[in-house]
Amino acid sequence: MFLLVLSFSISLVAFVVFQKLQSFHDDAKALERDRFKASYADCYLEAVNLDMSQWIWLPTFLKVYIIGVVETIYITLCQRGLFEWSSTLTKNENYVDTLVNEHTDNEGSIAIITGGDSGIGLEITKGLLGAGFHVIIGTHFEKSHEGFINALQKNVTSDKVTCIQLDLTRFESVQNFVQQVQAKIPKKSIQLLINNAGIMNAPYKMTEDGFESQCQTNFLSPILLTRSLLPYISPKTGKVLFASSSTLYTVNDLNLNVPLQKYGLNGLDHYAYSKACIAQLVTHLAKTTSIKIYSYHPGTVRTKLFSTTAVFNLPFISILFNHIMLSPKEGSRTPLFLCLSKDSRDSGSYWANGRKQKLPIVLINGKDRNIEALWKDTMAKIGLKK
Ligand SMILES: NC(=O)c1ccc[n+]([C@@H]2O[C@H](COP(=O)([O-])OP(=O)(O)OC[C@H]3O[C@@H](n4cnc5c(N)ncnc54)[C@H](OP(=O)(O)O)[C@@H]3O)[C@@H](O)[C@H]2O)c1
Repeated sequence: MFLLVLSFSISLVAFVVFQKLQSFHDDAKALERDRFKASYADCYLEAVNLDMSQWIWLPTFLKVYIIGVVETIYITLCQRGLFEWSSTLTKNENYVDTLVNEHTDNEGSIAIITGGDSGIGLEITKGLLGAGFHVIIGTHFEKSHEGFINALQKNVTSDKVTCIQLDLTRFESVQNFVQQVQAKIPKKSIQLLINNAGIMNAPYKMTEDGFESQCQTNFLSPILLTRSLLPYISPKTGKVLFASSSTLYTVNDLNLNVPLQKYGLNGLDHYAYSKACIAQLVTHLAKTTSIKIYSYHPGTVRTKLFSTTAVFNLPFISILFNHIMLSPKEGSRTPLFLCLSKDSRDSGSYWANGRKQKLPIVLINGKDRNIEALWKDTMAKIGLKK
């Protein structure tokens, strides 16, 4: 009798697992039909799409780790293959080169990128230079830009990059940056604004404007910068991108007090919150302008973003992650695709793996999904009227 029940239970579980895998497979196939030059395996990640926003019983930082681990396992199995590390890396990086080479007709167009001098931002900058853009980089620290520009300029002429100092933890610095940009270029002349700069799990710090530093860097200042530069962006062909993150799938309730709240060792809740806010604010901003607005997740990319998250820096794990995680150039695939593609795509949408993704339904202060309340509160925090 026991054996009968056991074999029936095992068969039932196997059947359910098989059905689930079959449905992932069907979803992935359906996604493949309209996908733009990306690998078939990418579709599986989207089909599985780990939306944990409704799992309110689980702490946010644990959900952030689970999403990170699932994405990394996915890259290992579906993108890298166990023994094909270098070939998939080359394939993905070649995709970026092909994309850039197919869109070199941007001579004279202006792109602005924050944090375009390191990590994924640097790779986006290189791609845009290759595509003919003049790139204005908002650089965090006032360093000698000459060496950096010289390194960048190997293949382009020296008047194609401009660096302007920008500290996103200070609204005053954002305003200074905007004034300097406005002094250099005419209205409606910006083709691209890429809000790439960000920090993750930074030690707790309150900024001089009175907000937690990740919230100010990752969503308050980028919204201030974008709103201030809107009149300088081409209303017909202009695009604005915001770096978000798949950690937005851990957040269910956007409590408007979070940017004022302190934390101890765990800064991941504030990070996920800031990235969820920016993706939701993008949906609202897109309704107010003809300029195309997008948020995106670049993938799990090995950069110094992880330098303050201990688990990624443990000796053995660090070597493993260096091997598995995407390279910064691979991380530039989705943002460069959004920047360079001439097709008109849904403004206000969130992208990952070169595809539009579904955003989770979030509450604002525990009440109905009312993104306008989040927008109004953000405007008040950054000192703008609407
Ligand atoms: N890497 C990933 O797996 C991943 C995943 C999801 C989302 N993202 C997002 O992608 C974006 C780029 O990340 P990354 O991985 O390339 O990280 P990164 O290598 O650490 O680059 C971040 C950039 O932001 C700049 N920055 C930081 N604080 C700033 C401030 N207060 N003012 C102005 N600039 C500031 C940094 O400048 P300094 O170097 O001078 O400080 C750096 O250039 C971030 O928004 C990140 O949240 C990354």
